[in-house]
Amino acid sequence: MKVLVVGSGGREHAIVWKLSQSQRIDKIYCAPGNGGISEYAECLPIGVLDTEGIIKACKDKNIELVVVAPDDPLANGMVNELERAGIRAFGPTQEAALIESSKSFSKNLMKKYNIPTAEFEIFDDMNTALNYIENQKYPLVVKADGLALGKGVIICENKDEAQNAIINIMDQKQFGEAGNTIVIEEFLTGPEISILAFTDGNTIVPMVSSQDHKRALDGDKGLNTGGMGAFSPSQFYTEDMAEFCMDNIFLPTIDAMNKEGRSFKGVLYFGLIITQAGPKVLEYNARFGDPETQVVLPRLNSDLLDIMDAVIDGQLHKLNIQWDDSACICVIMASGGYPQDYQKGFRITGLETIKDKEGIFVFHAGTKKVGNEYYTNGGRVLGITTMGENLNEARDKAYKQISAIHFDGAYYRSDIGKK
Ligand code: AMP
Ligand code: GLY
Repeated sequence: MKVLVVGSGGREHAIVWKLSQSQRIDKIYCAPGNGGISEYAECLPIGVLDTEGIIKACKDKNIELVVVAPDDPLANGMVNELERAGIRAFGPTQEAALIESSKSFSKNLMKKYNIPTAEFEIFDDMNTALNYIENQKYPLVVKADGLALGKGVIICENKDEAQNAIINIMDQKQFGEAGNTIVIEEFLTGPEISILAFTDGNTIVPMVSSQDHKRALDGDKGLNTGGMGAFSPSQFYTEDMAEFCMDNIFLPTIDAMNKEGRSFKGVLYFGLIITQAGPKVLEYNARFGDPETQVVLPRLNSDLLDIMDAVIDGQLHKLNIQWDDSACICVIMASGGYPQDYQKGFRITGLETIKDKEGIFVFHAGTKKVGNEYYTNGGRVLGITTMGENLNEARDKAYKQISAIHFDGAYYRSDIGKK
């Protein structure tokens, strides 16, 4: 069968790569894809928000399944539109994707159904919010309600910072309409872990645990980024913790979504923080995480297409999904300047040193293939991903490999996996 993956980053490269191992798939397309993805999939020049273009491509090319990976087409209802056009789609509907696209919705959901999360208040009036922060404990967290390219969360150390955050979001519209409503919440501390889970709305099957590194510089310093690396598993996610999360977070969340008439099918991502009082939900994502997917899918031994079919058909309880015991790590090589201004178009050398090496993958986040050469084409460029018996072995392998790959201005963190 023919499958189309929507998206263009390292996450989509990992999904396309894993799907390419499925016996039942004859051809993979990716819209719009990137240089690395083009080795496994035919890349179509269709934007991720161009639902009409995607539907037309499906009809023209007899594509039977579309995997919608990024947040914004999910929030815009691409899955609803595909289903209306009679095309199978993997991902939540717009109604269910609200769990990511509106923080006020997800916070109220957690409150209503007793799912552990930070204490919070919601505001749609700026002056009321400004009054509220007069008598709060700091740090305090100010969040834009809607999608804001991962930048909508501001940790405020004092009242001045909180005032600025509120004014920037609500008055200056730093994140556009996403900031019409804000959530102000208590600051929590503890290690953060990511649990991605497959769910068909009734059964939920967590994947192996992972952690990501969001800050640009070593020691978790510098600006927030889309993610500078990730690793799996997380030492904090013990069996007891997994059981607690299943009973108190995962199952209650899918039940809550069903009760709200927003049954969730697809990948539900739980961003958890392990506080002194136990794990709490920092955020939900309605999709595979990036770069967590790059360290989770290499550990999946089962066929990803079988899982996606079971999710769509409500048959997930019938599968016994298998994982590899290895550890996996992904170190992002980024363009100099990222996450601020950076240049593109530099030639990447050394990629051939990876070919056919066991347990080493390079997932492309922002590259372009011209002829037989790859060029940088984004802030995050490559995810050097390696497997090992344990995290140390995987990390050594990753950093050894990275030293063989070059492009002008390349930079990466040297402490991925050390948390
Ligand atoms: P979110 O997009 O909600 O996951 O927030 C992005 C990042 O901000 C998280 O991964 C945390 O590092 C941080 N963060 C969000 N909410 C809180 C909170 N209540 N307390 C402490 N840190 C937070
Ligand atoms: N790694 C966090 C995310 O995908 O949003």
